[in-house]
Amino acid sequence: MTERGDAIVLIGFMGAGKSSVGRDLASRLELPRYDTDEMISGRFRLSIADIFSRFGETSFRHAESEAIAQIPPERAVIVTGGGVVLRKVNVDALRRLGTVVYLQANEATLFARVSRHPSRPLLQTDNPRATLAELLRTRELLYLQAADFSVDTSHLRHQEVSEAILRKLNRDE
Ligand code: S3P
Repeated sequence: MTERGDAIVLIGFMGAGKSSVGRDLASRLELPRYDTDEMISGRFRLSIADIFSRFGETSFRHAESEAIAQIPPERAVIVTGGGVVLRKVNVDALRRLGTVVYLQANEATLFARVSRHPSRPLLQTDNPRATLAELLRTRELLYLQAADFSVDTSHLRHQEVSEAILRKLNRDE
């Protein structure tokens, strides 16, 4: 069996609330926070959208795996991008770092949330709603398989999601 670390790892689709919940959890628990998108953006000194348009998705995915490999094994909150589960090597590394929590939300909620920040490169299509539905359909099982447990965030505020995560973690300890 793989040795598991003490980090709290947030996975889930774009718009699931990973970044906001990650910030809230890290400040409540006074823990360091590692956000893979921020790490990649900092390394390239470019926005995620610019990295996609200038270097392509494959370069981004490569940088994403490198960012995960750089996260130290410590008690921390780790925030990931929505596509992190596409590579098994990422999932294996994240599960070694800690407990993996899937922030779930229904399609309509995800679409409403991503529409507020229309910068996601993968949703720059003629029909972003259909693209979102298709990506969600292909990824849902990957999120479920990677996660130790899920929290449905559709009707919760960020603080309530943090509290639900902490309740589940404390129960399992
Ligand atoms: C992606 C999600 C984004 C970002 C990149 C790719 C994806 O992160 O990593 O645009 O493949 O779902 P968020 O989930 O924080 O939007």
